[in-house]
Amino acid sequence: MNAWEQVRQRLQGRRQGFSLDRSFYTDPDVFQLDMELIWYRQWLFAGHDCELTRPGSFFTMKIGDHPLIILRDRQGVIRAFHNSCRHRGSLVCTAEKGMSARLVCPYHQWTYDLDGALVFVRQMGEGFDASQFGLKPVACETIGGYIFICLAKEPPDFAAFRAVMDPYFAPLGLTDAKVVHESTIVEKGNWKLVWENNRECYHCSGSHPELCKTFPETPTFTDLKAVENDPELGDLWARSEASGLPARYRVDADGQFRLMRVPLVGDAVSYTMSGKPAVRRKLSDEAPDGHFGALLLYHYPTTWNHVLGDHAITFRVTPLSATETEVTTKWLVHRDAVEGVDYRLDNLIHVWTETNDQDRRVVEDNAQGIASPAYEPGPYSPIHEGGVIQFVDWYASFMDRALKDGDAVLSSVV
Ligand code: FES
Ligand SMILES: [Fe+2]
Repeated sequence: MNAWEQVRQRLQGRRQGFSLDRSFYTDPDVFQLDMELIWYRQWLFAGHDCELTRPGSFFTMKIGDHPLIILRDRQGVIRAFHNSCRHRGSLVCTAEKGMSARLVCPYHQWTYDLDGALVFVRQMGEGFDASQFGLKPVACETIGGYIFICLAKEPPDFAAFRAVMDPYFAPLGLTDAKVVHESTIVEKGNWKLVWENNRECYHCSGSHPELCKTFPETPTFTDLKAVENDPELGDLWARSEASGLPARYRVDADGQFRLMRVPLVGDAVSYTMSGKPAVRRKLSDEAPDGHFGALLLYHYPTTWNHVLGDHAITFRVTPLSATETEVTTKWLVHRDAVEGVDYRLDNLIHVWTETNDQDRRVVEDNAQGIASPAYEPGPYSPIHEGGVIQFVDWYASFMDRALKDGDAVLSSVV
């Protein structure tokens, strides 16, 4: 039996409502399957279009074996390319971010235009056809201030997600915002443990004293089955929608993404120690006045997000190995907000900097305990961990479907 069949058998034999077998959190073969079947095939959050302020602005990232360049071209269009020179394969962009009128490979200076076309080479001889050696493009879409990329040759449909996300994010001004702080941490745990931890607040009271001042632990907010009947949510949704802000819970048929507004604790309007705004300016000039809680978005497998009235915090998950995951957090405010005048950076980032570190610790403790020979899958709380059950069910059914496709899957990747 090959690795694919073994994994499929283990998924089919798993106990629903229980955590997964150890191999799903530790085994390099399962990790490779996760990469090939999910990460190399699905739409992934890359960054924000407001980070690419001018033509020639770029940033780089890496998904598994794929180094990538994301840039804004001369026409203002955001594009993505494989960061692999068509001469002998060197990285073309070695910086994490920057600005460049053209992309010049540092090895032998092959030079690419911002649309990926090869425009300059030295002494390649008669008959060299530069048009055959442009940078390889990667599928790229922007929506509501977010850049998504997909490594598959034939990416899955993006239109359904766009149609749902657009009305929620159009009034929020993220396209014109600015990132004023970002942090990247490595959590020594499998990417699924990072997600499982994110999808419940069962751990919040024991781990997150700062976040709990303003973010509700209410289990109905993470349990997809309970949200419809929650009166507090119903009230917030009605108020928000009356002010032109879509707020109601939306989830796609496969459970890959969800959007909804949730109220904060008491009178809190932002994730600060006092609950007061961290930024004096609203995130968007167009947004209605008033307090509308936080808009939550998750999109498996890469991102979860909290958009408040005064700022947004966005998260990008990047698996590094079976037992290491990078989490990048960005704080966005109004483009014209001035540090020291409209906000204090330490106040703005305090709660989530602490929360991220606390989450890193619980994920790493979780990973170490799972590595014990004594570990066996344990039951999720149906009251508090409905979100985790949903995530694991999404993962298991997605993998099961993809594994059915067998080897055909591998050829779908560029
Ligand atoms: S590898 Fe890029 S120019 Fe030679
Ligand atoms: Fe947490």
